[in-house]
Amino acid sequence: MTTMDRLIGAGVERLDGPAKVRGTAPYAYEQDPGEPICHVAVVQSTVNHGRITRLDPAAAEAMPGVLAVLTPANAPRLGEGLASDLPVLQSLDVHYQGQIVAAVVAESSEIAKAAVGAVVVEYSAAEPDVALSADRPDLYAPEQLMAGFDTDSVIGDVDGALATAAATVDATYSTPTQHNNPIEMHTSMARWDEDRLTLWDANQGPHNIVNDLMTAFGLERGQVRVISPYVGGAFGSKAFTHPNQILAAMAAKVVGRTVVFELTRQQMFSLVGHRTPTIQRVRLGADAEGRLTAISHEVVEHTSRINEFAEQTATATRVLYAAPHRRTTHRLARLDVPPPTIMRAPGETPGLFALESAMDELAHAAGIDPVELRIRNEPERDPERDVPWSSRNLVACLRTGAERFGWAGRDLRPGVREDGRWLVGTGVASATYPARRRKAECRITGHGDGRWTVEIDGSDIGTGAWTALTQIAADALGVELGAIELRIGDSDLPFAGGAGGSTGLASWGSAIVLTARDVRRELDERWGGQLPADGVVVKGEVPGPSPHAQDWSMHAFGAHFVEVRVDRDTGEVRLPRASSVYAAGTIVNARTARSQFLGGFSMGVSMALHEESVVDERFGHYVNHDLAEYHVATNADIGDIDIHWLEEHDAYVNELGIKGIGEIGITGAAAAVANAYWHATGLRVRDLPITPDKYFRELGLG
Ligand code: MOS
Repeated sequence: MTTMDRLIGAGVERLDGPAKVRGTAPYAYEQDPGEPICHVAVVQSTVNHGRITRLDPAAAEAMPGVLAVLTPANAPRLGEGLASDLPVLQSLDVHYQGQIVAAVVAESSEIAKAAVGAVVVEYSAAEPDVALSADRPDLYAPEQLMAGFDTDSVIGDVDGALATAAATVDATYSTPTQHNNPIEMHTSMARWDEDRLTLWDANQGPHNIVNDLMTAFGLERGQVRVISPYVGGAFGSKAFTHPNQILAAMAAKVVGRTVVFELTRQQMFSLVGHRTPTIQRVRLGADAEGRLTAISHEVVEHTSRINEFAEQTATATRVLYAAPHRRTTHRLARLDVPPPTIMRAPGETPGLFALESAMDELAHAAGIDPVELRIRNEPERDPERDVPWSSRNLVACLRTGAERFGWAGRDLRPGVREDGRWLVGTGVASATYPARRRKAECRITGHGDGRWTVEIDGSDIGTGAWTALTQIAADALGVELGAIELRIGDSDLPFAGGAGGSTGLASWGSAIVLTARDVRRELDERWGGQLPADGVVVKGEVPGPSPHAQDWSMHAFGAHFVEVRVDRDTGEVRLPRASSVYAAGTIVNARTARSQFLGGFSMGVSMALHEESVVDERFGHYVNHDLAEYHVATNADIGDIDIHWLEEHDAYVNELGIKGIGEIGITGAAAAVANAYWHATGLRVRDLPITPDKYFRELGLG
């Protein structure tokens, strides 16, 4: 931090807020291409694994207003090399229920949807194979996990250490399939001008989508432009290209007009990914003082028949606590399910539910306060990589959180506090998420009149990045906020990776800071420190990960404290209050950061108590594929949440000391709720979500 930093840290209101509130910020569906728009609707497979034996589009084609019915028989051929779930309508083979098997392009969305019902499709199909279990004979070890993590890690002699431990836990936890449900459904509006494609699209990074469109349609860079200035949430589901973008571009090409394809809420349960279910066996061994001697975390999860998505579920276990003997493993089953994808803190979120529940169970077994147990197991260095921390303040988060929450004097015994009909308990869990940086480019234009344009293909998916990046740019250039015009969300802008892995601000912000440095140098060297009347244009970049990433372990940390009340008669769960404390490096915008922490935590509460995609194993589909039956936490479910963060200056992660905050809030949150539930009731629910039926099951009544 320098004395220049006047805006970084301030709670600046969202610059894009007024336009969003007034409805003048165009989302993908609302873009105006300057001509009437056609609509796409899709026919989706009703079987999980098989082949189309008959597909008759004649009745649909004959309907007035229908412009085309695309099928595997007539769809344009796509280029080779796409990810295996992207070649839309290229084959008669079916790999998951909900796969697009035909598409109608029509003058209106009503006509398109009506015509979908007139397309006749018949299949030959095998029984759906959709049930994950830990004893499937076909479980296999993927070559590596998402984000390049090793599949397994083994240090020392875990079994030997467990055999001689004074206290042990051996428990299996499970988390269900979950679906990302941003408010804005995935939407793509496509237009071709000769051989140039424009796609207005809801995504987490336009450059991410461009490459797949180039491959699909044999285009050169410069022939595809993806535009997405405003995005109504994503949580990972809009990070990668899905079939919707390819299909929209294909349909526009076929009919020679602008088309829009907006998924329905129901279609989001098959076409744009989900979080894999997990089955996790955790074994912990500790000495008489509660010092861990062994940690074992074995994960079973699923992927689809056609793509391998190997979620990094146990990787947080590799960094959180000290123990000389350690093991983490990941095994996958290939099932007849739609392709899984990333969903807010993929890996860390389900993984920490298991590890942090097990730590609570160990605290009980050893008779130690669960905050104290965690503090006793604080590692001095990264326990698996054996490198120092760039900064680590988990203990400070635990102590500060305990103070703010009022943890002192807590009774260790479960199931002994009542307030009328409510059983009352409190719980704690740790949070952690990696701090990373990615390559990003930036262009800064200084105009003679003192205004500045800052251009980078970053993305604000509702996080506040638009505002935070403007604060960073104003500080870096030493000007007022109002002098900056920030342009993001357009693949014609300088390259940047998408909003994902909590890397956005760290990467884009660093690119802006480094480019602004070049601007100041150019002004000093050539123009005597003044902005010339004709202005200046400077292009800069951050080349990739921090140069310190090899030699330092870089993570954000946090701690959640939760009070839970359980109705003794109905099993209804209430969460009246919580405190979360984070140590996540530089906080750029106090207002939008609080919103990110709060949103992440709320999503963790939602995971603990509500979210579950229920698969019917006979028919192979998600039966609760809408927001009426896939429950997410609402305002009424979230009590008084105290969000706090510690001052933390990390000199290694990036130029600004930013660790990223989009995901850490959800990590550990579900375990804190489950631990508080146990403390309230004495019942240990190890399979999420903690719904009222499980209260009766655990009581032996259900
Ligand atoms: Mo986040 S799941 O990396 O978009």
